[in-house]
Amino acid sequence: MPHLIAPSLLASDFTKLGEQMDMINQSEADWLHFDVMDGRFVPNISFGFPILKAAKATCKKPIDVHLMIEEPEKYIETFRDAGADVITVHYEACPHLHRTIAQIKETGAKAGVALNPHTPVSVLENVIEEVDLVCLMSVNPGFGGQKFIYNTVPKVQRLSDMIIVKNANVLIEIDGGVGLQNAEALLKAGARVLVAGSAVFKADDPLDTIRRMKAIGQLQ
Ligand code: DX5
Ligand code: ZN
Repeated sequence: MPHLIAPSLLASDFTKLGEQMDMINQSEADWLHFDVMDGRFVPNISFGFPILKAAKATCKKPIDVHLMIEEPEKYIETFRDAGADVITVHYEACPHLHRTIAQIKETGAKAGVALNPHTPVSVLENVIEEVDLVCLMSVNPGFGGQKFIYNTVPKVQRLSDMIIVKNANVLIEIDGGVGLQNAEALLKAGARVLVAGSAVFKADDPLDTIRRMKAIGQLQ
């Protein structure tokens, strides 16, 4: 399966949301990544339901909602109604992760679990078969434009091995500091969804950057 590119809206120019959506629609991007932050689970506050509804009304691509919030189970249905196609919760924010995953799937959305950089992939051993996506954070969540944590590459490999052993059908997504400089190493290790904020929206030519990220490995 070809890999997917998910530009992260957090890095976009919010004064020109319409133009940014047009760019995403015209591009080879597969998903739009949508970062929700609550100022409690992470030390920053981003955006929520009204902006998601606006994005849904204009964006033709599936919306990949990354919940960096405490008690995400309180808001799953509302995020689904507002337009989420994939809903990812943090392992560190979910004491009843198995139940929360079932709750997401019940809405019809794909269910994802994100791991902070310090959280080992082994914590997912008993739940991996239930999830559609695992998002490995390659920065500490909360802000765009941070430096990629290189230890993520062997971590992708370990998760990839676990998925193969369990014969599970799970997409590995990488989020934070991803760009043309590290995409190939991540894909080789087993990543299937690359989130890119600054690398896309701060580029001189976002369309071309998406095209180049999408083309990596395609000609081999
Ligand atoms: C970080 C967010 C990321 C962020 C990525 O907490 O989850 O999705 O937007 O931005 P870049 O690609 O700039 O690191
Ligand atoms: Zn994110």
